[in-house]
Amino acid sequence: MKIIAYGMRDDEMPYLKQWSKDNNIEVKAVKELLDENTVDLANGYDGAVVYQQKPYTAEVLDKLASFGIKSLSLRNVGVDNIDADAIKRNGIKVTNVPAYSPNAIAELTATQLMRLIRRTNTFDRKIANGDLRWAPDIADELDQMTVGVIATGRIGRKAINIYKGFGAKIIAYDIYHNPELEKEGIYVDTLDELYAKADVISLHSPATKENEHMLNDEAFSKMKDGVYILNPARGALIDTDALIRALDSGKVGAAALDVYEDEVGIFNTDFGSFDAIPDERLKNLLKRENVLVTPHIAFYTKTAAKNMTQFALTSNVNLITKGTDDSEVKF
Ligand code: COI
Repeated sequence: MKIIAYGMRDDEMPYLKQWSKDNNIEVKAVKELLDENTVDLANGYDGAVVYQQKPYTAEVLDKLASFGIKSLSLRNVGVDNIDADAIKRNGIKVTNVPAYSPNAIAELTATQLMRLIRRTNTFDRKIANGDLRWAPDIADELDQMTVGVIATGRIGRKAINIYKGFGAKIIAYDIYHNPELEKEGIYVDTLDELYAKADVISLHSPATKENEHMLNDEAFSKMKDGVYILNPARGALIDTDALIRALDSGKVGAAALDVYEDEVGIFNTDFGSFDAIPDERLKNLLKRENVLVTPHIAFYTKTAAKNMTQFALTSNVNLITKGTDDSEVKF
């Protein structure tokens, strides 16, 4: 059996080599991402392990299928960049890694919230200019605040535990209710109720067609003045123009964004200077003291890199040998 692994980073390689040795399975690692220009590299392999945010297009998926590759294993969680029709048409089976490290995402989200609440970005900037005064940057305290968590899957639940540790009051919205959280009575019935009550809104939902731009002008208008917005999930959940308007008006007091709706081709790229970043809207956000933007780094920890690599390889073997895996994604 031979597997090709696309988009392999140096930090993932030791985990791939260890897995390959332990399982005695040949894995060809390539640095390139899977796209129209690189799909031919997969010819002759039994399965492909991939990781990327750019789209898996019909052209790429048709080509993989024409090489006989029907086993595609993602090293990440999100499946919103896959052409579902092409997957179904070609009978390709797909797995993801749903829990490589929910903690990694939750920890960064909470870190950024605390930075926003304690105005550390403002103090860093003041100190760089020799200004060591306190006022006017007086902070809030999380244990006096209500955090509204949207989506209580693995990551949302980890985030809830961290917020609870800080003493915050938690409310949550999800179509599916987690039984433990249900017992605690934290669920609200509608998003509008969450918007009206939350001092902090923490987004942990996957992106779907239905929730695209769920945080738009109308949603922001229903929130408390000065609300904190946290998005470590998917850029498409927020209408960026509406967010900028809400920041300008003060409706949104501060935001931490690890994702951005136009991030593909921009995040994880070195442009050499701030001015060279080719996205004016992103630069508008990056310049703001009350907005913390990170380039989709929440997942980027050693634990996650190991689990993403090794779980995806094991799932790929299961798809190849058994035609199914516990992490199979249904389209
Ligand atoms: C995911 O696992 O879905 C992520 O967002 C991480 C990665 C694509 C950057």
